[in-house]
Amino acid sequence: MREEEYILKIEHAKERLKKAEDLKELEEIKREYLGKNSFLAQILRSLGKMPPEDRVYWGKLANKWKDELEALWEEAEKRIKINIIQKRLKEEEIDITLPGRRKSIGKLHPLTQVVEDIISVFKEMGFQVVYGPELETDYYNFTALNIPQDHPVRESHDSFYVDKEYLLRTQTSPVQIRVMEKRKPPLRIVAPGKCYRRDFPDATHSPMFFQIEGLAVDYDVSFAELKGVLTIFAHRLFGKDRKVYFIPSYFPFTEPSAEMYVECGICKGEGCKACGNSGVLEILGCGMVHPQVFREVGIDPEIYTGFAFGMGLDRIAMQIYGIEDIRLFYENDLRFLTQF
Ligand code: DAH
Repeated sequence: MREEEYILKIEHAKERLKKAEDLKELEEIKREYLGKNSFLAQILRSLGKMPPEDRVYWGKLANKWKDELEALWEEAEKRIKINIIQKRLKEEEIDITLPGRRKSIGKLHPLTQVVEDIISVFKEMGFQVVYGPELETDYYNFTALNIPQDHPVRESHDSFYVDKEYLLRTQTSPVQIRVMEKRKPPLRIVAPGKCYRRDFPDATHSPMFFQIEGLAVDYDVSFAELKGVLTIFAHRLFGKDRKVYFIPSYFPFTEPSAEMYVECGICKGEGCKACGNSGVLEILGCGMVHPQVFREVGIDPEIYTGFAFGMGLDRIAMQIYGIEDIRLFYENDLRFLTQF
């Protein structure tokens, strides 16, 4: 091949190196012009067989071309690598002026908030918080609480039975039995938790609802103490000026029994939709622990007395928050829940 042709080829290679845009192309150029089978390599290999003056001439020329191509190659590689990095930087650019995405922080359910408020009042008065199972036996839920098989009150507790023996508890009162079975007086406990009854859901009924049970057993627990504790509780929760009423009632596991009412906070006793025009709201049932209940758990009713109470939490929470439909608490609608 003639020198001019080599020069043309070298010029062409230089052009390609200057224009190369990716590393793969660069590798191809390298193989073609600087690789083992390139014409440059062939010239260099054949130097030994050339006459001395040709050898000097071609040796110098071929090495010059080689150096030039290598220098250009390195330059191209550097340029392409920088381009790659710059392209990436551009593509992955972060706009630091964009406002960050707000992470929403979870909150306690409004019912849980009310439970915690109520519990803290009772804790201050020396009550301890305990929990019982939601799946109960007929014995703990009814029998031990002086509600035998044929007792009419069972009807108002229309229950979810799982089998003949087990049911979803209809009240938190069985926790009383579990505590008294295991521990000796003095006892002062509150037991919050979910309860279940076969009620058709409407604005004031939910098949799942929340109660807080209370129990105090000691040598000289009196009805006066019961009234005092519950009045303090109501005043702490609703405010000191809220009137509280105790009205005689009936529960199989207490004797005497009462219901506690508070003046309706919405109409201040005038009568409105929320209180069914009565001006008051029933908050809880209570009474002195029935001697039969004590005997069932092996506590001597001649030595000890006790009071118990059970409150419906949903109704209290509805009063506090001014909510007219109990179902809102259990629908898990974030638009509702995030307001609390
Ligand atoms: N367990 C009762 C209910 O669900 C409420 C109750 C009333 C609990 C009187 C008590 C009590 O501990 O003494 O209707």
